[in-house]
Amino acid sequence: MCALTDRIDAKLLERCPKLKVAANIAVGYNNIDLAACTARGVMATNTPEVLTDTTADLAFALLLATARRLTEAEAYIRAGLWQGWHLKQLLGVDVHHATLGIIGMGRIGRTIARRAQGFEMRVIYHDPVRQPADVERRLNATYASKDELLAQADFVILQMPYSPQTHHLIGAAELKKMKPSAVLINSTRGGVVDDAALVAALKAGTIRAAGLDVFENEPNLNPGFLQLDNVVLVPHIGSSTEATRRAMAMTAAKNLVAALAGQTPPNLLNPEAKKK
Ligand code: DGY
Repeated sequence: MCALTDRIDAKLLERCPKLKVAANIAVGYNNIDLAACTARGVMATNTPEVLTDTTADLAFALLLATARRLTEAEAYIRAGLWQGWHLKQLLGVDVHHATLGIIGMGRIGRTIARRAQGFEMRVIYHDPVRQPADVERRLNATYASKDELLAQADFVILQMPYSPQTHHLIGAAELKKMKPSAVLINSTRGGVVDDAALVAALKAGTIRAAGLDVFENEPNLNPGFLQLDNVVLVPHIGSSTEATRRAMAMTAAKNLVAALAGQTPPNLLNPEAKKK
């Protein structure tokens, strides 16, 4: 069983010639070189489904915390700075009725869209694969090009898996396409955002604020973030509830046991490996 912090690549596989299965305790599996595993007949598995709701909750928590400046407000109280109610104190932006742009409309993206209905948000989304018309209707979500989404959204949530194709999907050029009043939420994977470009954009006011659960080069995040008030930072806790982390561990264990028993693991990512 491995975590998203373990790199399962050709170098490791060479040193573990008897390895049969790498059961990741995560839905994302960019830490696993699937081609290298397949070439050596090593099965790789992940933990989809069990963390969808919990991760969507965290994305929404970050959105609300960033819009309403919760961490900044809490730090202000803890620092003993509060002198009393003030008309213009810690003014945030409204979430209700705002436009939410979701980039990556997989399981978690669709669940976030459902959360957004409760806040009566207008939802637009972008994904290489367009959702069927009945799903769009049910989620009240409208397809948009990436540029349209960046130009229109008050909140942009990233929910694409990390891959070479999504590396720096949001960089300086994309941040410039967003509204100066917009908020960016990254709760998917570090590397989907160019963190240096984001620090520069937050400093310059290119966008209003960001809420981040994931970073490039975790846990050594860009120190520029720590200097800024307009960013909410949490340490990759998207799936971190007691129930969900337990469910993820159990899912990974079931995958592992199935693989060792010669069965097909329920969440096998590379079926070709089993045939070897
Ligand atoms: C995942 O499963 O990919 C999550 O990032 C773990 O928290």
